[in-house]
Amino acid sequence: MSSEDILMLLKDKKDFTSGAEIAERLKITRTAVWKRIKLLRKRGYKIEASPSKGYKLIRSPDFSIEGIKASLSNQSSIIGRKILFLDDIGSTNTYAMGLAEKGYPDGSVIISNCQTGGKGRLGRSWFSPPDKNLYMSIILKPSIPPMDAPIITLMSAVACISAIKNFLPSASIKWPNDLMISEKKFGGILTEIKADMDSIFYAVVGIGINVNIEAEEMPDEIREYATSIKIETGKKQARNKIAIDILKEMDKWYSIFSNNGKRLISEEWLRLSSTIGRAVKAVIGENIFQGTAQGIDENGMLILRLSDNSIKKISAGDVTHLRQAEQ
Ligand code: BTN
Repeated sequence: MSSEDILMLLKDKKDFTSGAEIAERLKITRTAVWKRIKLLRKRGYKIEASPSKGYKLIRSPDFSIEGIKASLSNQSSIIGRKILFLDDIGSTNTYAMGLAEKGYPDGSVIISNCQTGGKGRLGRSWFSPPDKNLYMSIILKPSIPPMDAPIITLMSAVACISAIKNFLPSASIKWPNDLMISEKKFGGILTEIKADMDSIFYAVVGIGINVNIEAEEMPDEIREYATSIKIETGKKQARNKIAIDILKEMDKWYSIFSNNGKRLISEEWLRLSSTIGRAVKAVIGENIFQGTAQGIDENGMLILRLSDNSIKKISAGDVTHLRQAEQ
Protein backbone atom coordinates (compact mmCIF):
# COMPACT_ATOMS: atom_id res chain seq x y z
CA MET A 1 0.00 0.00 0.00
CA SER A 2 1.38 3.42 -0.91
CA SER A 3 1.12 6.07 1.78
CA GLU A 4 3.14 8.93 0.35
CA ASP A 5 0.07 10.39 -1.41
CA ILE A 6 -1.64 10.87 1.99
CA LEU A 7 1.54 12.32 3.39
CA MET A 8 1.70 14.88 0.58
CA LEU A 9 -1.83 16.03 1.43
CA LEU A 10 -1.09 16.30 5.15
CA LYS A 11 2.24 18.08 4.54
CA ASP A 12 0.51 20.72 2.43
CA LYS A 13 -1.72 21.80 5.33
CA LYS A 14 -0.85 23.27 8.70
CA ASP A 15 -4.31 22.40 10.06
CA PHE A 16 -6.43 19.23 10.13
CA THR A 17 -7.59 17.56 6.89
CA SER A 18 -10.84 15.64 7.16
CA GLY A 19 -10.94 11.92 6.40
CA ALA A 20 -13.71 12.62 3.88
CA GLU A 21 -11.53 15.12 1.97
CA ILE A 22 -8.56 12.72 1.87
CA ALA A 23 -10.81 9.86 0.71
CA GLU A 24 -12.35 12.08 -1.98
CA ARG A 25 -9.02 13.44 -3.28
CA LEU A 26 -7.29 10.06 -3.38
CA LYS A 27 -10.38 8.19 -4.59
CA ILE A 28 -10.17 5.64 -1.78
CA THR A 29 -12.56 4.66 1.05
CA ARG A 30 -12.30 6.18 4.53
CA THR A 31 -11.31 2.75 5.84
CA ALA A 32 -8.39 2.76 3.40
CA VAL A 33 -7.45 6.25 4.65
CA TRP A 34 -7.39 4.98 8.23
CA LYS A 35 -5.29 1.94 7.27
CA ARG A 36 -2.70 4.21 5.61
CA ILE A 37 -2.62 6.52 8.62
CA LYS A 38 -1.95 3.49 10.85
CA LEU A 39 0.88 2.38 8.54
CA LEU A 40 2.45 5.85 8.60
CA ARG A 41 2.27 5.90 12.40
CA LYS A 42 3.99 2.52 12.49
CA ARG A 43 6.78 4.01 10.38
CA GLY A 44 7.35 6.79 12.90
CA TYR A 45 5.02 9.57 11.73
CA LYS A 46 3.18 11.32 14.55
CA ILE A 47 -0.32 12.01 13.20
CA GLU A 48 -3.05 13.44 15.39
CA ALA A 49 -6.56 12.10 14.70
CA SER A 50 -9.75 13.88 15.76
CA PRO A 51 -13.18 12.37 15.03
CA SER A 52 -14.60 15.81 14.22
CA LYS A 53 -11.63 17.43 12.43
CA GLY A 54 -9.69 14.62 10.72
CA TYR A 55 -5.90 14.20 10.62
CA LYS A 56 -2.92 16.46 11.23
CA LEU A 57 0.77 15.67 10.73
CA ILE A 58 2.64 16.58 13.90
CA ARG A 59 6.12 15.13 13.31
CA SER A 60 7.95 13.12 10.64
CA PRO A 61 10.65 10.52 11.34
CA ASP A 62 14.22 11.38 10.43
CA PHE A 63 14.31 8.69 7.71
CA SER A 64 11.46 7.26 5.65
CA ILE A 65 10.64 6.38 2.09
CA GLU A 66 7.30 8.22 2.22
CA GLY A 67 9.04 11.44 3.24
CA ILE A 68 11.57 11.17 0.43
CA LYS A 69 9.00 10.23 -2.19
CA ALA A 70 6.57 12.95 -1.09
CA SER A 71 9.27 15.62 -1.43
CA LEU A 72 10.68 14.41 -4.74
CA SER A 73 7.52 13.79 -6.74
CA ASN A 74 6.77 16.68 -9.11
CA GLN A 75 10.20 18.16 -8.44
CA SER A 76 12.46 15.60 -9.97
CA SER A 77 12.49 14.59 -13.61
CA ILE A 78 14.61 11.44 -13.66
CA ILE A 79 16.41 10.81 -10.38
CA GLY A 80 14.14 9.13 -7.83
CA ARG A 81 11.28 8.20 -10.16
CA LYS A 82 11.71 4.78 -8.60
CA ILE A 83 12.96 4.50 -5.01
CA LEU A 84 13.61 1.39 -2.96
CA PHE A 85 14.10 1.57 0.79
CA LEU A 86 15.80 -1.27 2.66
CA ASP A 87 16.43 -1.90 6.33
CA ASP A 88 19.76 -3.52 5.72
CA ILE A 89 21.70 -4.93 2.81
CA GLY A 90 25.26 -6.02 2.06
CA SER A 91 25.99 -3.07 -0.22
CA THR A 92 23.47 -0.76 -1.92
CA ASN A 93 25.88 -0.58 -4.88
CA THR A 94 26.02 -4.35 -5.39
CA TYR A 95 22.25 -4.55 -4.99
CA ALA A 96 21.71 -1.70 -7.46
CA MET A 97 24.03 -3.37 -10.03
CA GLY A 98 21.77 -6.45 -9.82
CA LEU A 99 18.65 -4.35 -10.29
CA ALA A 100 20.18 -2.45 -13.22
CA GLU A 101 20.97 -5.80 -14.79
CA LYS A 102 17.30 -6.75 -14.40
CA GLY A 103 16.25 -3.59 -16.25
CA TYR A 104 15.58 -1.08 -13.48
CA PRO A 105 15.25 2.33 -15.16
CA ASP A 106 17.59 5.31 -15.36
CA GLY A 107 17.41 7.33 -12.12
CA SER A 108 16.33 4.47 -9.79
CA VAL A 109 17.49 5.02 -6.21
CA ILE A 110 18.26 2.39 -3.55
CA ILE A 111 18.58 3.58 0.04
CA SER A 112 19.41 1.46 3.07
CA ASN A 113 19.41 2.15 6.80
CA CYS A 114 22.53 0.01 7.19
CA GLN A 115 25.08 -1.96 5.15
CA THR A 116 26.79 -5.14 6.28
CA GLY A 117 29.35 -5.04 3.46
CA GLY A 118 29.60 -1.36 2.48
CA LYS A 119 32.25 -0.85 -0.21
CA GLY A 120 34.68 2.07 -0.48
CA ARG A 121 37.13 3.08 -3.21
CA LEU A 122 40.28 1.08 -3.92
CA GLY A 123 38.79 -2.13 -2.49
CA ARG A 124 38.31 -0.70 0.97
CA SER A 125 35.24 -1.21 3.15
CA TRP A 126 32.83 1.57 4.10
CA PHE A 127 31.76 1.87 7.73
CA SER A 128 27.94 1.58 7.57
CA PRO A 129 26.25 1.24 10.99
CA PRO A 130 22.41 1.46 11.26
CA ASP A 131 20.26 4.51 12.13
CA LYS A 132 22.98 7.16 11.78
CA ASN A 133 24.19 7.73 8.26
CA LEU A 134 23.10 7.77 4.65
CA TYR A 135 23.88 4.97 2.19
CA MET A 136 22.36 5.25 -1.26
CA SER A 137 23.00 4.14 -4.82
CA ILE A 138 21.64 5.63 -8.02
CA ILE A 139 21.31 3.72 -11.28
CA LEU A 140 22.23 5.85 -14.30
CA LYS A 141 22.01 4.95 -17.96
CA PRO A 142 23.73 7.78 -19.80
CA SER A 143 24.52 7.47 -23.50
CA ILE A 144 28.27 8.01 -23.23
CA PRO A 145 31.44 6.09 -24.06
CA PRO A 146 33.26 4.37 -21.15
CA MET A 147 36.12 6.89 -21.29
CA ASP A 148 33.65 9.60 -20.19
CA ALA A 149 32.69 7.62 -17.05
CA PRO A 150 34.82 9.72 -14.63
CA ILE A 151 32.58 12.71 -15.34
CA ILE A 152 29.72 10.80 -13.66
CA THR A 153 31.71 10.78 -10.41
CA LEU A 154 32.65 14.46 -10.76
CA MET A 155 28.98 15.28 -11.38
CA SER A 156 27.91 13.32 -8.29
CA ALA A 157 30.50 15.05 -6.09
CA VAL A 158 29.27 18.43 -7.39
CA ALA A 159 25.66 17.44 -6.57
CA CYS A 160 26.54 16.25 -3.03
CA ILE A 161 28.62 19.31 -2.12
CA SER A 162 26.09 21.74 -3.65
CA ALA A 163 23.42 20.18 -1.40
CA ILE A 164 25.55 20.22 1.76
CA LYS A 165 27.02 23.70 1.18
CA ASN A 166 23.59 25.25 1.87
CA PHE A 167 24.10 24.66 5.57
CA LEU A 168 27.84 23.88 5.73
CA PRO A 169 29.54 26.49 3.54
CA SER A 170 33.03 25.09 4.15
CA ALA A 171 32.20 21.68 2.59
CA SER A 172 34.45 20.88 -0.38
CA ILE A 173 35.60 18.11 -2.73
CA LYS A 174 39.02 16.49 -2.40
CA TRP A 175 40.05 14.87 -5.68
CA PRO A 176 38.54 12.75 -7.00
CA ASN A 177 35.40 12.38 -4.92
CA ASP A 178 36.00 12.71 -1.20
CA LEU A 179 33.47 14.95 0.53
CA MET A 180 35.34 17.06 3.04
CA ILE A 181 34.84 19.55 5.84
CA SER A 182 37.93 21.19 7.30
CA GLU A 183 40.36 18.52 6.01
CA LYS A 184 38.25 15.63 7.36
CA LYS A 185 36.15 13.31 5.24
CA PHE A 186 32.40 13.09 5.89
CA GLY A 187 31.38 11.26 2.74
CA GLY A 188 32.51 9.43 -0.36
CA ILE A 189 31.33 8.30 -3.77
CA LEU A 190 31.93 4.95 -5.44
CA THR A 191 30.97 4.69 -9.10
CA GLU A 192 30.77 1.26 -10.70
CA ILE A 193 29.97 0.69 -14.37
CA LYS A 194 29.10 -2.08 -16.77
CA ALA A 195 30.34 -1.27 -20.23
CA ASP A 196 31.80 -2.63 -23.45
CA MET A 197 34.40 -0.85 -25.61
CA ASP A 198 31.83 1.53 -27.12
CA SER A 199 29.23 2.33 -24.52
CA ILE A 200 28.17 2.22 -20.90
CA PHE A 201 25.23 -0.12 -20.27
CA TYR A 202 24.70 1.36 -16.83
CA ALA A 203 26.52 3.07 -14.00
CA VAL A 204 25.79 2.87 -10.29
CA VAL A 205 26.76 5.89 -8.21
CA GLY A 206 27.07 4.94 -4.53
CA ILE A 207 26.98 7.78 -2.03
CA GLY A 208 27.88 7.36 1.64
CA ILE A 209 27.45 10.31 4.01
CA ASN A 210 28.32 10.38 7.70
CA VAL A 211 25.30 12.25 9.02
CA ASN A 212 24.77 11.73 12.75
CA ILE A 213 27.64 9.44 13.73
CA GLU A 214 29.74 10.64 16.69
CA ALA A 215 33.55 10.48 16.74
CA GLU A 216 33.54 7.93 19.59
CA GLU A 217 31.30 5.61 17.54
CA MET A 218 33.79 5.47 14.66
CA PRO A 219 36.38 2.68 14.39
CA ASP A 220 39.87 3.75 15.54
CA GLU A 221 41.36 3.49 12.05
CA ILE A 222 39.12 6.23 10.58
CA ARG A 223 38.49 8.50 13.59
CA GLU A 224 41.48 10.73 12.89
CA TYR A 225 40.47 11.41 9.26
CA ALA A 226 36.67 11.19 9.38
CA THR A 227 33.94 13.49 10.55
CA SER A 228 30.16 13.76 10.28
CA ILE A 229 27.68 16.52 9.56
CA LYS A 230 26.49 16.36 13.18
CA ILE A 231 30.03 16.74 14.51
CA GLU A 232 30.61 19.77 12.26
CA THR A 233 27.27 21.52 12.87
CA GLY A 234 26.80 20.46 16.50
CA LYS A 235 23.23 19.42 15.63
CA LYS A 236 21.47 16.15 14.79
CA GLN A 237 20.40 16.26 11.13
CA ALA A 238 17.38 14.68 9.41
CA ARG A 239 18.71 12.03 7.03
CA ASN A 240 15.61 12.46 4.84
CA LYS A 241 16.38 16.10 4.21
CA ILE A 242 19.97 15.40 3.26
CA ALA A 243 18.93 12.54 0.94
CA ILE A 244 16.25 14.74 -0.70
CA ASP A 245 18.61 17.70 -1.17
CA ILE A 246 21.28 15.47 -2.74
CA LEU A 247 18.78 13.71 -5.02
CA LYS A 248 17.37 17.05 -6.23
CA GLU A 249 20.88 18.29 -7.01
CA MET A 250 21.66 14.98 -8.75
CA ASP A 251 18.56 15.48 -10.88
CA LYS A 252 19.65 19.00 -11.79
CA TRP A 253 23.22 18.03 -12.65
CA TYR A 254 22.22 14.86 -14.50
CA SER A 255 20.03 16.94 -16.74
CA ILE A 256 22.90 19.41 -17.33
CA PHE A 257 25.16 16.43 -18.09
CA SER A 258 22.62 14.93 -20.52
CA ASN A 259 22.48 18.26 -22.35
CA ASN A 260 26.17 18.20 -23.18
CA GLY A 261 27.15 19.93 -19.95
CA LYS A 262 30.52 18.24 -19.40
CA ARG A 263 32.33 21.57 -19.36
CA LEU A 264 29.89 23.11 -16.88
CA ILE A 265 30.34 20.14 -14.54
CA SER A 266 34.16 20.40 -14.68
CA GLU A 267 33.98 24.14 -13.99
CA GLU A 268 31.68 23.64 -11.00
CA TRP A 269 33.85 20.79 -9.73
CA LEU A 270 36.89 23.11 -9.85
CA ARG A 271 34.96 25.80 -7.98
CA LEU A 272 33.93 23.38 -5.21
CA SER A 273 37.26 21.57 -4.94
CA SER A 274 39.78 22.22 -2.18
CA THR A 275 42.53 20.27 -4.00
CA ILE A 276 43.41 22.63 -6.84
CA GLY A 277 46.33 24.94 -6.08
CA ARG A 278 47.36 22.77 -3.12
CA ALA A 279 50.56 20.85 -2.50
CA VAL A 280 49.54 17.19 -2.59
CA LYS A 281 50.95 13.70 -2.25
CA ALA A 282 49.53 11.06 -4.58
CA VAL A 283 50.03 7.39 -3.76
CA ILE A 284 49.49 5.07 -6.74
CA GLY A 285 50.29 1.49 -5.85
CA GLU A 286 53.98 1.50 -4.93
CA ASN A 287 54.63 4.95 -6.40
CA ILE A 288 54.46 8.27 -4.60
CA PHE A 289 54.29 11.62 -6.41
CA GLN A 290 54.46 14.98 -4.69
CA GLY A 291 53.54 18.21 -6.45
CA THR A 292 51.06 21.03 -6.87
CA ALA A 293 47.56 20.23 -8.13
CA GLN A 294 47.04 22.36 -11.26
CA GLY A 295 43.59 21.26 -12.37
CA ILE A 296 41.73 18.35 -13.95
CA ASP A 297 41.70 17.36 -17.60
CA GLU A 298 38.63 16.63 -19.74
CA ASN A 299 38.51 13.07 -18.35
CA GLY A 300 38.69 14.10 -14.71
CA MET A 301 42.38 13.16 -14.29
CA LEU A 302 44.27 15.24 -11.75
CA ILE A 303 47.07 17.33 -13.28
CA LEU A 304 50.10 17.60 -10.98
CA ARG A 305 53.16 19.81 -11.46
CA LEU A 306 56.07 17.93 -9.89
CA SER A 307 59.10 19.59 -8.28
CA ASP A 308 61.17 19.20 -11.50
CA ASN A 309 58.41 21.19 -13.27
CA SER A 310 57.19 18.17 -15.23
CA ILE A 311 53.49 17.37 -15.48
CA LYS A 312 52.03 14.10 -14.19
CA LYS A 313 48.42 13.08 -14.71
CA ILE A 314 46.77 10.89 -12.06
CA SER A 315 43.72 8.78 -12.85
CA ALA A 316 43.29 6.81 -9.62
CA GLY A 317 44.86 6.51 -6.21
CA ASP A 318 44.99 8.26 -2.89
CA VAL A 319 45.65 11.96 -2.72
CA THR A 320 46.56 13.74 0.50
CA HIS A 321 46.55 17.51 0.93
CA LEU A 322 49.89 18.44 2.45
CA ARG A 323 50.27 20.89 5.28
CA GLN A 324 52.99 23.58 4.98
CA ALA A 325 55.41 21.65 7.19
CA GLU A 326 55.10 18.53 5.01
CA GLN A 327 55.91 20.24 1.68
C1 BTN B 1 34.91 6.08 -0.78
O1 BTN B 1 35.72 5.19 -0.53
O2 BTN B 1 35.16 7.27 -0.53
C2 BTN B 1 33.58 5.74 -1.42
C3 BTN B 1 32.56 5.33 -0.41
C4 BTN B 1 31.22 4.99 -0.99
C5 BTN B 1 30.26 4.42 0.04
C6 BTN B 1 28.88 4.24 -0.50
S1 BTN B 1 27.69 3.88 0.75
C7 BTN B 1 26.50 3.54 -0.45
C8 BTN B 1 27.19 2.79 -1.56
N1 BTN B 1 27.22 1.36 -1.31
C9 BTN B 1 28.45 0.91 -1.10
O3 BTN B 1 28.75 -0.27 -0.83
N2 BTN B 1 29.34 1.92 -1.21
C10 BTN B 1 28.68 3.16 -1.55
